[in-house]
Amino acid sequence: MTGTAQQKRLFIKTYGCQMNVYDSERMADVLAPLGYGVTDQPDDADLVVLNTCHIRERATEKVYSELGKIKELREARQEAGGGRMTIAVAGCVAQAEGEEIMRRQPAVDLVVGPQAYHQLPELIARAHRARGERLAADFAAEDKFDALPATRNPGGVTAFLTVQEGCDKFCTFCVVPYTRGAEWSRPVDKIVDEAKALADKGVREVTLLGQNVNAYDGDGGPDGKGLAGLVRKLAKIPGLDRIRYTTSHPRDMDEALIAAHAELPELMPYLHLPVQSGSDKILKAMNRGHTAEAYLKLIEKIRAARPDIAMSCDFIVGFPGERDSDFEATLNLVREVGYASSFSFKYSRRPGTPAAAMPGQIAEEVKDERLARLNALIDEQQRAFNAAQVGKVLPVLFEKKGRHPGQLNGRSPYLQAVHAEGPDHLIGQIVPVRIEAAAKMSLGGVLETAPA
Ligand code: SAH
Ligand code: SF4
Ligand code: F3S
Repeated sequence: MTGTAQQKRLFIKTYGCQMNVYDSERMADVLAPLGYGVTDQPDDADLVVLNTCHIRERATEKVYSELGKIKELREARQEAGGGRMTIAVAGCVAQAEGEEIMRRQPAVDLVVGPQAYHQLPELIARAHRARGERLAADFAAEDKFDALPATRNPGGVTAFLTVQEGCDKFCTFCVVPYTRGAEWSRPVDKIVDEAKALADKGVREVTLLGQNVNAYDGDGGPDGKGLAGLVRKLAKIPGLDRIRYTTSHPRDMDEALIAAHAELPELMPYLHLPVQSGSDKILKAMNRGHTAEAYLKLIEKIRAARPDIAMSCDFIVGFPGERDSDFEATLNLVREVGYASSFSFKYSRRPGTPAAAMPGQIAEEVKDERLARLNALIDEQQRAFNAAQVGKVLPVLFEKKGRHPGQLNGRSPYLQAVHAEGPDHLIGQIVPVRIEAAAKMSLGGVLETAPA
């Protein structure tokens, strides 16, 4: 070999939110100089990383069953005379219950929390020496970002970019403040550099990520403070034509950010703004810090600034103490807002969170029934929103080839998946598409102007 490290195979499985997707990419970046190349096959991987999510009990339990399977793959590989397979657990389960993971599944070689990915090379070396600490779960987002390599291989026309991490809101149901630590914002110039590098590699759309992305408090100088200032700065980067951000908290949706939606064509008209419940009693018990009416007023303001904005939301059904009337209030709020898409979850009791100890825990059957009713309403709204696009011409950013030959897949400004027939060279371009068909999850259309 000519000086390059021997190629090793890295398999990463990602659970949970977009921030984990970003983190997985960055772990691959950290490991690339050690000779690790990403594979989508776990059976012959030299290093398997499970990037885990702790948000609900189901998500956490999945990790343990997956670890059982990976352990079997490792044994099969060893019996076949293959090399050693190192097993790592990363992400929010690693942070929340690292010791327990090692105890419950001794095959795990190392555990690394979300703030410690830059320590991966050292942790792997220690695991191979079978000496030293194999668990890293400290809370210093700053060190992580400083230590990450400046280059990224986005491998597509859209990319995630973490700008803020952690949460100080302490909603009573949620583990995130415990797994991701306190709110922390990356400096503006670091983000701008990363965004420019992405644009240079052909990225046309970035989604800015944060557990509370609109609590971003970096200073963009003349462009302004906070997320609005950052977006204004990023909008000037040549080639970067679309900017999105997620997830926002209603309490941090300030005037400047709302104004940015009115002013900046680069800021896409789609906003994920979770409310969780439409009942003031439940919102209070959740410690969300606002009423249903305040949320509705906020949406009115946002729609005044950007009338075509598509709203999306998260809901929890069956929070402790939720009566039928509270649940009805949630349905009413959904009817009043009219969402383009939404996610709904049955309340999951998370150890260590205040809500887990609250009286009035709701029976599983009641949660099931409420979830089904809420989902039916959400589906209906999503179909209606998609159907309303038929006959319109939407600018579509084509991202990749579609399932059928000659077909391309892209996204509308409202984050809808759109497919249309067109030549491959349109991938990475924003093209007008006349929408002809709508389903629950996607739109179909034809190119409005014949491609050159
Ligand atoms: N920071 C974001 C959301 C993070 S978690 C926000 O504040 O909106 C993503 C979603 O998971 C939440 O919006 C909530 O709807 C859901 N969730 C969080 N904890 C949960 C729990 N214990 N049970 C059920 N759903 C939960
Ligand atoms: Fe969790 Fe609430 Fe923080 Fe969102 S704002 S991450 S739901 S504690
Ligand atoms: Fe899950 Fe952690 Fe994201 S708990 S939702 S992976 S912040």
